[in-house]
Amino acid sequence: MKKKLLIVFILFLAGCAVAQEKEKLAYPDLDTGTWYKNALIYNLEIGVFKDSDGDGRGDIPGLISKLDYLRSMGVDVLWLAPFFPSPGRDDGYDVADFYGIDPSLGNHGHFTELVRQARQRGMRIILDLVINHTSDQHPWFRASSSSRDSPFREWYIWSEKRPKDWNKGMVFPGVQEGVWTKDPKTDQYYYHRFYEFQPDLNYTNPEVVAEVHRLIAFWLQQGIDGFRVDAVPFVLELPGSPGDKPRLDFEFLYRMRQFAMFRNPEAIILGEANVPPGENAAYFGEDSRGLQMMFNFYVNQHLFFALATGDVKPLLTALKATQQIPEMAQWVHFLRNHDEIDLGRLTEKQRERVFEKFGPDSSMQLYDRGIRRRLAPMLGRPDLIRLAYSVLFALPGTPVIRYGEEIGMGDDLSLKERLSVRTPMQWDTTKNAGFSSGDSLWRPVISEGKYDYRQVNVGQQLGDSTSLLFHLKRLASLRRRLPQIGDRDYEIVEGMGEGILAIRYRSLLILHNFCDCEKTVRVPGGERLTASLLFGGRTADPGSKQLPIVKLGPYDYQWYQLF
Ligand code: NOJ
Repeated sequence: MKKKLLIVFILFLAGCAVAQEKEKLAYPDLDTGTWYKNALIYNLEIGVFKDSDGDGRGDIPGLISKLDYLRSMGVDVLWLAPFFPSPGRDDGYDVADFYGIDPSLGNHGHFTELVRQARQRGMRIILDLVINHTSDQHPWFRASSSSRDSPFREWYIWSEKRPKDWNKGMVFPGVQEGVWTKDPKTDQYYYHRFYEFQPDLNYTNPEVVAEVHRLIAFWLQQGIDGFRVDAVPFVLELPGSPGDKPRLDFEFLYRMRQFAMFRNPEAIILGEANVPPGENAAYFGEDSRGLQMMFNFYVNQHLFFALATGDVKPLLTALKATQQIPEMAQWVHFLRNHDEIDLGRLTEKQRERVFEKFGPDSSMQLYDRGIRRRLAPMLGRPDLIRLAYSVLFALPGTPVIRYGEEIGMGDDLSLKERLSVRTPMQWDTTKNAGFSSGDSLWRPVISEGKYDYRQVNVGQQLGDSTSLLFHLKRLASLRRRLPQIGDRDYEIVEGMGEGILAIRYRSLLILHNFCDCEKTVRVPGGERLTASLLFGGRTADPGSKQLPIVKLGPYDYQWYQLF
């Protein structure tokens, strides 16, 4: 008898080992440290998140006090916008000291505590690494522009004469005049891809490269797990190459990634590179030598086209165009970020249709290419917003959510440029939306109209299981149970009819109906399959059903496990 029990026990252990191996094969990220493939990233600016001391500006202790909220939502990674000392002319993206912390936001002691408390809750932190340029107030640029003989002269890019293409390639057309500006003191022109107060650093100078590595080492040593690298294509531009077709130094990127991983093997580099699909490969690098993650701007723009028109064809094409990526690489998908929605890669006609629907007024548009609104006011309808979030969690990649989007916050178009989507977080119905007890705020809270903080806030939505916040929490927890979505192994199912986005991840089928109408669809190859509804399906019968026919309601989404 004992012997029999022993054999059964050994067989059981062997079974477990086999199952574990199978699991590893199916989900390599469980085993290889590719933790970022199935994480939920949350993007925030400390200064508008939560103020702890009543000075009217958010701070690190304020953020610490909200970590439980973030964890309960399912957030794994905090992406912190620049919090370094800065004149603030580009909301912190004009850095004056890469090693410091803006004193109004906190100090290094606070930061260490933030890292500790985040870790305690199983969350990681990544920082914005803004290395394309500095503020013109940065001591390096002050030194560089003090004299032509300055030891820092070659840290920036100078030209004796104003180059012919001085007004080509501006990132902020309509606001920015050119990309070369004369420095009155030394009578030469300096290069700046962005505003004139953001001179570009010169990466052909090995001293600058070494400094950036020191900077990366410094912040990794503080316990963070990676960086969102700002404006990657511009960082890689080789000075002197033509402005409209610059040559790029990808080796710089690969070395940076390698260096970061030497210092922290789990560190990730998430790149902001809004490039056409044909150019992605070099950024990810052969054999995954480059960026581990990149925002998928291409899919984002076509997704907005689909949301605006109900026509998903360009979205399907965009998804297929970005399907092939190296093993360790990952796309990051988003609905809104801290900038305008950039629609520059759509055709003019497509862009016009999105403008018409989501940004008809010129005050809503920016830089001739984008919309400076938050998601909720743009989409307007709760069912369309929920569909958009379901799509976000279903797309092949890692989702990122911008603070406030989880409750459907509004925008403030009276603020300039992209500040419209950077108003204080709306926590509750108390003074200043619970953001600050201060009498004078650094940036105004939205306190009128449909998105007034007394209507839209975390407190109210936490008490309502039908709220947008709960929808998001459900999606986050669903996604955690379906790690296959983070893999590269998926199929964009075609032939499902107009307005239907269908993605299949092995035995998972996710359907979205972008039409404000009912649809009955046939799942190709679904004849012998049984489908069990995991999520969504306002009009679907709960429980299992025989495929291939599925009915979807207007703006419906249905997540199925297939057998
Ligand atoms: C891209 C950032 O997303 C944007 O907010 C900033 O203005 C520019 N880079 C310049 O740093």
